[in-house]
Amino acid sequence: MKHYLNISDIDHLPTWVDEAIQLKKDPRAQQHLGQGKTLGLFFFNNSLRTRLSTQKAAKNLGMEVMVMNFGTDGWQLEYEDGAVMDQGCAEHIKEAAQVVSQYCDIMAVRSFAQLQDRDADTAEKVLNGFKKYASIPIVNMESATAHPLQALADAITLEEHRKAKKPKVVLSWAPHPRALPHAVANSFVEMMKAQTEMDFVITHPEGYALNPNLTADCVIETDQEKALTDADFVYVKNWSSYESYGQVLNNHDHWTITPEKLGKAQFMHCLPIRRNVVATDAVLDGDQSLVIAQANNRTFAAQLVLQKLLEHQS
Ligand code: CP
Repeated sequence: MKHYLNISDIDHLPTWVDEAIQLKKDPRAQQHLGQGKTLGLFFFNNSLRTRLSTQKAAKNLGMEVMVMNFGTDGWQLEYEDGAVMDQGCAEHIKEAAQVVSQYCDIMAVRSFAQLQDRDADTAEKVLNGFKKYASIPIVNMESATAHPLQALADAITLEEHRKAKKPKVVLSWAPHPRALPHAVANSFVEMMKAQTEMDFVITHPEGYALNPNLTADCVIETDQEKALTDADFVYVKNWSSYESYGQVLNNHDHWTITPEKLGKAQFMHCLPIRRNVVATDAVLDGDQSLVIAQANNRTFAAQLVLQKLLEHQS
């Protein structure tokens, strides 16, 4: 594996999940792998979990870590080839990516969707700009369309908490006051499509269909109550409209997850979560919530990815 940009970079998901569960037993056993190597973390957007868990993962592997808030502390980057740079951007991605490649052995980038222009977000100019001009492996820490570190952590969490042989997993849209990107939901769907031993259902209100190219083979149900029936896991996430790109069409407050809706299912969410909007306090504080376990698994998902990239380099 040269880069980790998407779930499709995982050659065999069940093997990766098993490997992550194994490395959890002794996280510092591979300290030698990262000795003398540096990971650069570059953030164009805020983060708690991704920022800290990826640093922890690198340190478990013996790596040095450099962190930069590119969005606020770096020069504003130009991405267009041939641009006449007489406006706001002081540095071109060509130089930035090549310079960073000299300081680091692996880089990780977070750059969210702008939600203004679907084609522009789909083009992933930040991630693909670094990929084009950097000479080192790149890890996606959430881009405009994907959050594969989160989805790998979710796969580990599902495996650790599954009770049924073939559990039913429901991805449910939930309300939110702001327009949110599709990245988490997209990668969760991609990850679930690689699961052969789970039943998967997506539920959302009319107008909130995800990218149809991604969900073409999925079961989609717009009746939330029907979708949640007999669920073993309920993965909850808000996203803005894909068709009316980036818009909040209707708050659909009745889609908030309550203990009654959850039933006997285990509750999952990537965090951060708006309490009593996305899910009620009773759900988050109840025994069926896996959100803290999910956040813990972010370290081991990142560590497995870094380990594989380091092994590929050595
Ligand atoms: N789930 C997740 O990516 O959390 P942060 O945005 O805090 O990194």
